[in-house]
Amino acid sequence: MKLTLSVIKADIGGYVGHSHMHPRLMEVASETLDGAKASGLLVDFKVLHCGDDLELIMTHTKGEEDPDIHKLSWDTFLRCTEVAKEMKLYGAGQDLLADAFSGNVKGMGPGVAEMEFEERKSEPVIIFMADKTSPGAWNKPLFRMFADPFCTAGLVIDPSMHGGFRFDVLDVIDNKRIELSCPEEMYDLLVFLGASSRYMVRGVYRKSDGEVAAKASVQRLNIMAGRYVGKDDPVLIVRSQSGFPAVGEVLEPFSFPHLVEGWMRGSHNGPFMPVSFKDANPTRFDGPPRVIAAGFQLCGGMLVGPVDMFDDPSFDYARQKALEIAEYMRRHGPFEPHRLGLEEMEYTTLPSVMEKLKGRFESLD
Ligand code: F6R
Ligand code: MG
Ligand code: MG
Repeated sequence: MKLTLSVIKADIGGYVGHSHMHPRLMEVASETLDGAKASGLLVDFKVLHCGDDLELIMTHTKGEEDPDIHKLSWDTFLRCTEVAKEMKLYGAGQDLLADAFSGNVKGMGPGVAEMEFEERKSEPVIIFMADKTSPGAWNKPLFRMFADPFCTAGLVIDPSMHGGFRFDVLDVIDNKRIELSCPEEMYDLLVFLGASSRYMVRGVYRKSDGEVAAKASVQRLNIMAGRYVGKDDPVLIVRSQSGFPAVGEVLEPFSFPHLVEGWMRGSHNGPFMPVSFKDANPTRFDGPPRVIAAGFQLCGGMLVGPVDMFDDPSFDYARQKALEIAEYMRRHGPFEPHRLGLEEMEYTTLPSVMEKLKGRFESLD
């Protein structure tokens, strides 16, 4: 039996500001999805949050991009939005409603990562969920998991992984995709993955049999008015063990808090800090950007879990490092490379400042 794992997320209201999730919204989401489970639409579900993003983790047998599953998610977010509005939570419905007060013009709609597969004899999966960043944040960890033998020992010593993996990469500027194979096209792949605000990994596949290994949410990425505006707090599904990277190989890339974009007003770089569920509430300068990891064993589609995978002292060093990097970056204030380049910022006063000062620029030609 083919099973589909769908992770669909939206920011439908923050508490306080853009920092946390009100528990009532999670209750309302759970009640709604409970109904769908009782009716047989869902096999199972779990509701989590990362910062101000509500994460619906669902299993079913209807395949990817199924209208009923997507409508269920949309209706769940709408119900939660109603409650968020009643409580006057911040930016109620910000990812759903064009008239919501969120202060910027991000792409609209929930983020989605979905994969369909035949459940293995034992099926460990890890779902990563992040706040205050964009799907480009997954490029480096995905490269490390599926292409870097200094991270994933299995690429070298496990015959079932030795053939390598294929990366499906999206170009968000020209709206194109390309597939590249590792290890043989590794240097070509890195030309693109290193430019993580333009090129983003959508999925990873095992070359020996084409099995899906990882899927990321990239839906809201689009160009508006000649400018890329769809930064979104992303999710990522990774299958693990027995021909895929071991759990420890999947988590290992997050032991280094690399710089990602999306901190404060979607306009700053900051360290990607791996945290436990209870610490996924970004407050310092609306950050620093956070990532949580929920581990599950699937059992006939039932989500046995979650295990809070970063709730482990072995990630304390990464967290400490992230705090040091956060401090270092913050000292730059409004200067690059803390603040993003002019073209990358979600908020900008450049056009109005330019308009105001245009007569005062003197040509030096
Ligand atoms: C970043 C984020 C926050 C807001 C900031 C300003 O993705 O959500 O850093 O950008 O708090 O929010 P508004 O414009 O709603 O006052
Ligand atoms: Mg928000
Ligand atoms: Mg968010």
